[in-house]
Amino acid sequence: MNFKGRDVISIEDFSLDEIEHILNVTKEVEMYPEKFKNEMAGKIMSPLFFENSTRTSSSFQAAMLQMGGRVLDFDIATSSVNKGETLRDTVKIIEGYNPDFVIIRHKRDGSAKFVADLLDVPVMNAGDGQNQHPTQTLLDLYTIKELRGSLDGTKIVLAGDLKYGRTVHSLALALSKYPRCEMVFISPDSLRMPKYILNELSKKGVSFQEKGLEELELSIRSFPIIYMTRIQRERFPESLEGEQEYEVISKVYRLSLEMLKNVNHELKIMHPLPKVGEIEESVDETNFAHYFQQAKNGLYIRKALLILLAGGKDE
Ligand code: NCD
Repeated sequence: MNFKGRDVISIEDFSLDEIEHILNVTKEVEMYPEKFKNEMAGKIMSPLFFENSTRTSSSFQAAMLQMGGRVLDFDIATSSVNKGETLRDTVKIIEGYNPDFVIIRHKRDGSAKFVADLLDVPVMNAGDGQNQHPTQTLLDLYTIKELRGSLDGTKIVLAGDLKYGRTVHSLALALSKYPRCEMVFISPDSLRMPKYILNELSKKGVSFQEKGLEELELSIRSFPIIYMTRIQRERFPESLEGEQEYEVISKVYRLSLEMLKNVNHELKIMHPLPKVGEIEESVDETNFAHYFQQAKNGLYIRKALLILLAGGKDE
């Protein structure tokens, strides 16, 4: 197994064995941080976040700094992108400063692949439009494994904005690599899981069902994990109808403490965050909530990826 110099663009680029190797290295990184404290010495990461980010950008930076590496500054608000510079030019310039890794988040689908094709250094996709978010998916898989011991036979409800939410696209595709997984997709009719993903799941013989928002309460009584997502308002069409649709959906899409009264006490609630009202705040204090643990795992996953792409821990 060889990760050195590779890009992380789509979760589809990795086999099940490779994903498992990444998760094993992540465990080691979490347990023995001291062992890796100089792993990035002399290396530089260039984060290019063209869209907002808190967790992904901070955890990538923390990962690099805690392993002795350095991080180039890039702030979209003060960069020349605001003067109209193209993505191609920005990336070409950054390349000239010799970073060892480039991390890109951009509103355009396929932007990470575009950048990776331009550069020789490893590029990691930190979210490209409504397409994919592979490093989030790896931390989601790591969290699920931590919670239930294995990814085989995972039964999960994916709820919310399944059309524009890139995290659920990558996660559904990743879980389809594992045997006996079952998925329920809950969304408003206008925000259903894209056809190309459903086709892929069907091709692999994965068991899934699509349901409306009104089925949320019933589904969490029979499934052990629910993965909630935010309605991606910024990706809605900029029209009055788009705005009105958002208002209607955000009023009915809400997981409340009340709804948790009749569920199995083993239910796990996950969310890539940020959450913006779709989970009642009081749920945070219950044992059902695992999203903060999930966000923390992002640090370990990103450390593991940096180590692997730099050529460490190959098998
Ligand atoms: C997600 C994203 O950017 O796709 N955030 C994250 O990285 N944890 C989810 C979201 O923005 O809703």
